[in-house]
Amino acid sequence: MARKLAFINYKGGVGKTSLIVNTAACLAKLGKRVLLCDFDTQSNASIWLLKLERWNPINTSGEGAVFSIFEPGHKRVKDLVIKDVLLDKAGGHALPGLDLLPTSFNLVDLESEYTGDPRRPAYVIFQEQIAEIEKDYDFILFDCPPNILRASQCGIFTANEIYVPSNPDALSLIGFTLLVEKLGRFHQLSASFRKVSMGVPAQICGIIFNAIKTGVDIEVPRMRMQLRLNQFKAAKRTAKDARIFTAFVRDAMVVRRAVALGMPVTLLGQEAEGDNVVRDFERIADEILRNPPAP
Ligand SMILES: Nc1ncnc2c1ncn2[C@@H]1O[C@H](COP(=O)(O)OP(=O)(O)OP(=O)(O)O)[C@@H](O)[C@H]1O
Ligand SMILES: [Mg+2]
Repeated sequence: MARKLAFINYKGGVGKTSLIVNTAACLAKLGKRVLLCDFDTQSNASIWLLKLERWNPINTSGEGAVFSIFEPGHKRVKDLVIKDVLLDKAGGHALPGLDLLPTSFNLVDLESEYTGDPRRPAYVIFQEQIAEIEKDYDFILFDCPPNILRASQCGIFTANEIYVPSNPDALSLIGFTLLVEKLGRFHQLSASFRKVSMGVPAQICGIIFNAIKTGVDIEVPRMRMQLRLNQFKAAKRTAKDARIFTAFVRDAMVVRRAVALGMPVTLLGQEAEGDNVVRDFERIADEILRNPPAP
């Protein structure tokens, strides 16, 4: 069974997409088979990995984007996955093993116009279709927007592990707190739809600090986050071994540049050379690999 991980924080702009894309790339580089599912209407991960010229036709037609499994509902996730999504300049595969389930702006309709069948919520439809292909993967990752509305619910219902990207500030701590509350509510609402074969409902397993500026001491924000995490752990509202990652990601211009270049930093070669941020993402991937959730 693939490990299924959602990256989410109720605070926007903390680096969820940057972390998930770069970590996914590091895992693929290690030979893991990785599927990244983009559940953010903004489509940042899809635009990043496909670049505009390949993403625009998907967005204009809606064909090929994840929303088409719900409306009109003729497509299945297995038909939409773009295998070995990253292409090099010559059109060859730049990173075999990294696949993408793309989204487009029409995903926003899932939150409003989509009515569906209340006996089969969108997250059930999605989870069943992931189950059809999960044998093909070691890791399935879900990039979520900063909320637990319908799009996020698809990732969270299907995942077993949640990682919370955070900046060393009070707002990230508030975002984490809100996430724990909303997550508990969603698990209650969706409990009757779960099957034993899906494994445990997604539990918060780790907090990952991102965009740490040189010379900034994160000990105090780290301690505050640890205290909050300890409270939630004691109340059994996170995984029992949930932790703040030892590895963190520094603030680096190349992380922003990577988006414009349509590549994860680990494939930027000379562009990122000498920039230790590549090592940061490798350490995050390594920490995830070395710490599968306790049975
Ligand atoms: N380690 C980093 N160093 C420098 N810039 C970063 C870093 N991480 C993220 N950024 C930049 O911060 C901005 C927000 O990052 P990102 O889009 O990954 O956040 P997000 O949490 O996914 O946002 P949203 O809530 O909108 O989905 C982007 O411009 C990104 O390039
Ligand atoms: Mg994002």
